[in-house]
Amino acid sequence: MALPIAVLVSGGGSNLQSLIDRMESGTLDAEIKIVISNKPDAHGLTRARNHGIPALALDHTDYPSREAFDRAMVRAIQESGAQSVVLAGFMRILTSEFLNAFPGNVLNIHPALLPSFPGAHGQRDAAEYGVRIAGCTVHFVDEKMDHGPVIIQAAVPAVPGEETDALAARILKLEHRIYPQAVQWLAQDRLRMDGRHVQLRPAHSAPVPQPENALVSPPLEQGF
Ligand code: GRF
Repeated sequence: MALPIAVLVSGGGSNLQSLIDRMESGTLDAEIKIVISNKPDAHGLTRARNHGIPALALDHTDYPSREAFDRAMVRAIQESGAQSVVLAGFMRILTSEFLNAFPGNVLNIHPALLPSFPGAHGQRDAAEYGVRIAGCTVHFVDEKMDHGPVIIQAAVPAVPGEETDALAARILKLEHRIYPQAVQWLAQDRLRMDGRHVQLRPAHSAPVPQPENALVSPPLEQGF
């Protein structure tokens, strides 16, 4: 059975789109039951509706507290039938009340090689720092921002003086590959958390070519 998931967005939703595309092509064994945005005008909601996926705007400014907002999201997610939650450019910190509703089942993607450059401007902070290797991280979510156990990371060379937008675009291309891959591993029940360490149960499949000019670990599998 396909893994029923909810996707939370705040913006453009290109990562959401990469998940939808892999589901529609049959490589990702998951089904998006609902897309929720805390920003009513997020393009991610339109992307969902374009693919017949239920899309819900829950404006966080309508709620008296973080907890009240999270409770409304938990209710909507549970009613949708989703078991796992995928944060795709969702710009709110989740309370423990939310996380306790989906233990070990909330994923996030961050556009930097954690633990470096957490926060809302990972790519810009890395570029300004002058790193020579940048990248992105998919991790389980815990109470601290951009902090939980790492599932997969992808690294790309960074060029001195390069515009942040150009670096961000190269990172985003890899985000669109590692996020569907990580969700597929979750759907296949191949991820085990051991403290901060995430073990990936091996697949019995042949190695496949990896993206050029990038290092992805664990390596991407067939279809990603
Ligand atoms: C991505 O860079 C993601 O890593 C970060 O926010 C951005 C969202 O982009 N968390 P999109 O909305 O998926 O296009």
